[in-house]
Amino acid sequence: MSRRRRIYEGKAKILFEGPEPGTVIQYFKDDATAFNNKKKGVITGKGVLNNRISEYLMTRLAEIGVPTHFIKRLNMREQLVRQVEIIPIEVVVRNVAAGSLATRLGLEEGERLPRSIVEYYYKADHLNDPMVTEEHITAFGWATIPEIDEILNMSIRVNDFLSGLFLGIGLKLVDFKLEFGRVFDEDQDMIILADEISPDNCRLWDVKTNEKLDKDRFRRDMGRVEEAYQEVARRLGILPEDPGRDVAETPTEEDA
Ligand SMILES: Nc1ncnc2c1ncn2[C@@H]1O[C@H](COP(=O)(O)OP(=O)(O)OP(=O)(O)O)[C@@H](O)[C@H]1O
Ligand SMILES: [Mg+2]
Repeated sequence: MSRRRRIYEGKAKILFEGPEPGTVIQYFKDDATAFNNKKKGVITGKGVLNNRISEYLMTRLAEIGVPTHFIKRLNMREQLVRQVEIIPIEVVVRNVAAGSLATRLGLEEGERLPRSIVEYYYKADHLNDPMVTEEHITAFGWATIPEIDEILNMSIRVNDFLSGLFLGIGLKLVDFKLEFGRVFDEDQDMIILADEISPDNCRLWDVKTNEKLDKDRFRRDMGRVEEAYQEVARRLGILPEDPGRDVAETPTEEDA
């Protein structure tokens, strides 16, 4: 494998310089964290599955006209994506009460919300990713008014599409987190979907049993975490045929 420069190492992925300007390689790790890094662990095979799942979902979204950073999958753990300037906002879309919303508003987990709710969180680990409003986002210049409008519209579209897609395979899309970025295309800025869409940042429950098939199994020590990620991939029809052939276990790089 050719040597390349490491740009950034996050909690779940490593970013490497891509083969062409304006591209980066996302390397998906098995590392799992929760509660802003307070809980750490490894979910064996997670990186391989998330790489596939994110590829699949981003490809389906591109087919309905949602612009995404995804270019192509390179191997079991890596995909080539367009490099973006990340908007420092996590967009959370919720359909059913769970997680921090249930806690904060005293809702019963599993309660269907009166309508889908979109929330924004400022990406700042040292501040615990505080919730913010459009007012903060535009006032502090994290995104412009047209950009945040675009982000909101795309998020709702992604929610409608993915809710249907998951329902078709017997999964309830309870909530999920998206990240967006800016690219410069033909002299104009464009907002595209970035990061990843996987059971790391979606809550997915079995429609019939409400069994959790996402990272909450890790957060809450429920066990069978690997199996849950596998089950999502299996239902999407994308379970890698031979998980034993995971060659890119250790990323190659030039500087650490
Ligand atoms: N296309 C892209 N171009 C540039 N950066 C990207 C792109 N897609 C995702 N990123 C960024 O790459 C990093 C991915 O790593 P990872 O998901 O492990 O981060 P993280 O530990 O969650 O940290 P962070 O708090 O920065 O999101 C994130 O910071 C994410 O915002
Ligand atoms: Mg992340």
